[in-house]
Amino acid sequence: MDFKGKYAVITGGSSGIGRETAIAFAKRGANVILVARNEKKLNEVKDLCLQKGAAGAFAFVCDVGDYPQVKLACGKIAKRCGRVDVLVNNAGFGAYRPFENQEVYELEQMMKTNFFGTVYFTKELLRLMQSGSHIVNVSSMAGKLAFPNYSGYGASKFALSGFTGSIYYELKERGIGVHLVCPTGTKTRFFDNESFRHMPKSATYGKMMEASSVARLIIDAIEKNRREVVPTLRGRMGIILNALFPQFFGFIVSRNYQRRKKEGRNGQENKIRAV
Ligand SMILES: NC(=O)c1ccc[n+]([C@@H]2O[C@H](COP(=O)([O-])OP(=O)(O)OC[C@H]3O[C@@H](n4cnc5c(N)ncnc54)[C@H](OP(=O)(O)O)[C@@H]3O)[C@@H](O)[C@H]2O)c1
Repeated sequence: MDFKGKYAVITGGSSGIGRETAIAFAKRGANVILVARNEKKLNEVKDLCLQKGAAGAFAFVCDVGDYPQVKLACGKIAKRCGRVDVLVNNAGFGAYRPFENQEVYELEQMMKTNFFGTVYFTKELLRLMQSGSHIVNVSSMAGKLAFPNYSGYGASKFALSGFTGSIYYELKERGIGVHLVCPTGTKTRFFDNESFRHMPKSATYGKMMEASSVARLIIDAIEKNRREVVPTLRGRMGIILNALFPQFFGFIVSRNYQRRKKEGRNGQENKIRAV
């Protein structure tokens, strides 16, 4: 797909995967529209996108989990751009805690940001999307498989996977592509959340990805018209194993969880740091 002059909206464009995705679209000559809460960081990425070759770059401060704010931001996007060719619903955050220690407020925030943020933006921007447009929803392996300590995060990403699967069929009729990208652990500020401090490193389930690699997967999903992207063989095997032998998969995850709890008790702090 030739992205030159196209309008790409990226939520969570101020950091990590969203930032790298914005740069990837900029390098391809697109107009990038960045959405997040931190104005300073948004403007830094906006300037960077212009340097990298974006046809235009715009930044909108908005909490994606707040519908009135989303309506306002999308109204401004409509006025400024007139159309949207790509929507990457990427804004999100996670917390790594046992359900018993999880505040209901935090569970609600994850649902609002990770799930409703996508719902709100899709609802408000669909009217600006024509046949040939694309929506990419950034989920997670935690949205395909349940893991301990991810009850809130996993639930929000499972909801996102279900929502994406459903609109895939509906929007196909309008010629709008819908894609789900499920990254594994990626080196971003995601892990700055204090709840990850004592997460054993092994709990990221494999080698950490670079944010720029996830950005490439997002572009690839559009160009190769991929409905779902699960980047690692390990992830794909896990999904198949869980579907065919849920008891056995549960046994493995449970055994690893017990081991990791011991790791945690031995005081090994998580070494994952933001890039
Ligand atoms: N890193 C991983 O290991 C990993 C793995 C699988 C999936 N993911 C998913 O990838 C996506 C991007 O995360 P990341 O890893 O790039 O983390 P990140 O570096 O922390 O970036 C998260 C982005 O989301 C924005 N955001 C968070 N809450 C928001 C809100 N309420 N309203 C608007 N923007 C909000 C943040 O900007 P502001 O703070 O400025 O608002 C930031 O731009 C998330 O959906 C995450 O669940 C990450």
